[in-house]
Amino acid sequence: MKEIRVRAPGTIANLGPGFDIFAIALEKPYLELTMQLTDTNSIAIKNACRECVPTRVENNTGGLAIRDLLERVDSHTGVSFEVQKNMCIGAGLGSSGACASACVYGLNELMELDLNYNEMIEIASRGEVATGNVAHADNVAGAMLGGFVIIKNSHPIDVAKIDVPEIPIVIGVLKKAQQTTRPLIPKSLRLEEVKEQLSYCARVVHSILTNDLKEFGQSINTDYISEPTRSKSIPGYSDIKKKLLAEGAYGCNICGGGSSLFVVCDKERVHDLALVMRKQFAAYELGDDIIITQASNEGTKVIFYD
Ligand code: HSE
Repeated sequence: MKEIRVRAPGTIANLGPGFDIFAIALEKPYLELTMQLTDTNSIAIKNACRECVPTRVENNTGGLAIRDLLERVDSHTGVSFEVQKNMCIGAGLGSSGACASACVYGLNELMELDLNYNEMIEIASRGEVATGNVAHADNVAGAMLGGFVIIKNSHPIDVAKIDVPEIPIVIGVLKKAQQTTRPLIPKSLRLEEVKEQLSYCARVVHSILTNDLKEFGQSINTDYISEPTRSKSIPGYSDIKKKLLAEGAYGCNICGGGSSLFVVCDKERVHDLALVMRKQFAAYELGDDIIITQASNEGTKVIFYD
């Protein structure tokens, strides 16, 4: 029986102003899973990680994406997969997108389907319905391709990847209290806010293309779509952000759907800022899971194939 082991990186989606449009892949955390084809005509999900991943197909982003892919290619093969290394689930670090991305990538290899990246991202994005009831492609695109990704078109999916320069990142890991925070997102913005949001999105892209870390940090710092509502469920958010910026972070915002926070800073400052984040998290009783990482140009890849 053929077996494949696949690794997919965690991601930070939105990057401040780029709601559902931007994401960046991370060096860590990442997720690994092992997959086999079976003759059972069903999808079996096993759980071998420190946190429980949903094992019902309809509740698991990877399970849903596999079902979608098998329907698309009209195959009745059985598939079994096991998530073996995990990252914090439900914290905005793209674990669900990484799982969907790894499943689609792995199955494409095992079945020799030759799907292109946009096709794989489209299928994986529909797996996200399992977590937030809405298909969105930012996390899966970041996990699939690595680097900085832009969703250029949603129907059909068309994604651009830009290789990232060195971007040091400190993350304060925080699980969200509810399964999804998407229903909290406002349905409209004032024109002035739209204009500013567009400028900040343009600055994110410009800063990456010009390798300007300070501008990148400053441009991820403002958002009128996700941050105002999602920050309300993070105790001390504005105080913590103010302190991190005062200590030298170039920018701070919420990772994807929350509730983790991330800062961008000079490499020399990461340990100091991790300490500030730790102290602030302790002050607001938010735990002590702090990750020092950086952006990565590596997307989903095969670790082992036999
Ligand atoms: N763009 C998505 C959202 C990312 O903000 O809901 C979820 O991690």
